[in-house]
Amino acid sequence: MNVSLRQLKLFEAVARNLSFTRAAEELHLTQPAVSIQVKQLEENVGLPLFEQLGKRIYLTDTGKALQALCENILGALASFEMEVADRKGLKQGKLRLGVTTTAKYFVPRLLGAFCERYPGIDVSMKVSNQQNLLERLARNEDDLYILGRPPEHLPVNAHPFLANPLVVIAPPDHPLASERNIAPARFAEEWFLMREPGSGTRQATERFFAERGIALRERMTLGSNEAIKQAVIGKLGVAVLSRSTVALESEVGRVAILAVEGFPIRRHWHIVYPADKKLSVVSQAFYDYLTGEAEQRLDEIAD
Ligand code: PGA
Repeated sequence: MNVSLRQLKLFEAVARNLSFTRAAEELHLTQPAVSIQVKQLEENVGLPLFEQLGKRIYLTDTGKALQALCENILGALASFEMEVADRKGLKQGKLRLGVTTTAKYFVPRLLGAFCERYPGIDVSMKVSNQQNLLERLARNEDDLYILGRPPEHLPVNAHPFLANPLVVIAPPDHPLASERNIAPARFAEEWFLMREPGSGTRQATERFFAERGIALRERMTLGSNEAIKQAVIGKLGVAVLSRSTVALESEVGRVAILAVEGFPIRRHWHIVYPADKKLSVVSQAFYDYLTGEAEQRLDEIAD
């Protein structure tokens, strides 16, 4: 039997849609082009594959048997194609990440182990605040985004993967450093150092105090976590930051973490991409790595 793969693909589309017109649309072909190929296939098989009743077409028993065969053949071909793409894609490929300024404290460490596993992958990382990254996401400029909170107004896929607690920091000799159960209203009497508008950390902090009807005394707006840390160490005020940004300073006693009620604010990191985007093999591998192994890898790196 002299049957081509192309004929089988066209037949499968007609059989699934039970329409030559819809199959032609799906495959971006003209309807006569599809009809001719299916006719030739029918001649090769030597039995009718469709029958027409009124305006509708139906599969004959032979047509149904061929449809089942097509599912097997085309399914096996699709998995083979995926496997080949995997092999090619993970040997060499690009991964463009958009990472919030706060996530840059741990993402590079995770990337280390990932790049060791797939040395041919070329990774670029755009670091910016939440707002700028959402604008990049809307323009589809990167493959994956690591954000503190998935956007509400954009259709995305978002998966939480690591805890991201926000803590209150102060200089180690601050009068509140030795107190327990500090009321948020008492804490809000302190001068406050804030991240810039557009920062996810800032939004989460503002939300926390707004929900309690508390206004903050904002002394200064600083455009980076590092600047805020240094300003806290320099006794310019107190601040709320992600614990991952102050791990080292709190360990060596350069900043104190205050026991304010309601803190830490419990959040998670999210890996985010546009809802209608099909991930490349490389992006999918990094997505699986983050959602499956990130925690364990970070523990290993810390040990
Ligand atoms: P940011 O985002 O770096 O923009 O503050 C971090 C977060 O949303 O937790």
